[in-house]
Amino acid sequence: SLPQHVRIVEVGPRDGLQNEKQVVPADTKLELIRRLAEAGLKTIEATSFVSPKWVPQMGDNTEVLTRVLAAAAPGVDYPVLTPNLKGFEAALAAGAKEVAVFGAASESFSQKNINCSIAESLARFRPVTEAAQAAGVKVRGYVSCVVGCPYEGEIAPQKVAEVAETLVSMGCYEVSLGDTIGSGNPVTVQRMLDAVMRRIPVTQLAGHYHDTYGMAVANIFASLQMGVAVFDASVGGLGGCPYAAGASGNVATEDVVWLLKGMGIDTGIDFDALVDTAAWISAELGRAPASRVARAVLAK
Ligand code: HMG
Ligand code: MG
Repeated sequence: SLPQHVRIVEVGPRDGLQNEKQVVPADTKLELIRRLAEAGLKTIEATSFVSPKWVPQMGDNTEVLTRVLAAAAPGVDYPVLTPNLKGFEAALAAGAKEVAVFGAASESFSQKNINCSIAESLARFRPVTEAAQAAGVKVRGYVSCVVGCPYEGEIAPQKVAEVAETLVSMGCYEVSLGDTIGSGNPVTVQRMLDAVMRRIPVTQLAGHYHDTYGMAVANIFASLQMGVAVFDASVGGLGGCPYAAGASGNVATEDVVWLLKGMGIDTGIDFDALVDTAAWISAELGRAPASRVARAVLAK
């Protein structure tokens, strides 16, 4: 049976804005995050503590996180990405209470994205998870390319399961499974989930589906059928990945909420406020919202 409640992890301010050609001002990021919290999002990924040479769009990470936490809404978590100990220390100094390490199930993608092999990346995550545990900071794990890779093509579900299991064994409370280039479909996503769920309880899994080919909502439904109840999404469908050419944004948060609302599954999110936020940030970026749901609702 389908879950009755779904938790949505809003990744627009990070996964979305990291891929905008223009560097978005910190004030705009702060306002976006404020509006998202007001719309009822309880987990909002705020920024990433990666190299500003690699991702200049997140170069204001310390300012953004410090200001977000100073004005934090009650009951809202603001996780940030930390690829290594250096990133973790900077995040901790800015006040982070939750971080995420991010690996991949594809060797080539790991090299392009974080400049090391899968094994090296896992070895770098271990001290991060240890330091986090010592500091009382929660750690989430990501696995990219869970279905397909822009460099290697199809990825074996077994490889995804292995990396995900290692992340959980290090102490990640949840693993977010990334269809980075949106090449999955309900059958390949379920096959992947089946392999992962043999090793990790479904309550510790999240789906992170990019909507490059318009399959993300179908993949979310396929995941719901298997009991997944946490999904990452990006308001207005913002985003992509700088190291996966042609990748478009995550599934739009309003598309996911529309789906779930229609199916009677609770998210705690105010749909109208969410669509308004999609319209607002899209206008700030000089375009119309990418999602069909936002366009349909706003056309009324
Ligand atoms: P590297 O060059 O191998 O790192 O990069 P290094 O340790 O050799 O250090 C080189 C330089 O970077 C040094 O500075 C370090 O201090 C600095 P220099 O001496 O040259 O001046 N450095 C850092 N600076 C700031 N913060 C840090 C940090 N670490 C080292 N944390 C590194 C390795 C991981 C840092 C680099 O490859 C990087 O930043 N990559 C960016 C990755 C990224 O942000 N990708 C997008 C997010 S992942 C994603 O979108 C996928 C996801 O959404 C799921 C999905 O869709 O699949 C999560
Ligand atoms: Mg992503």
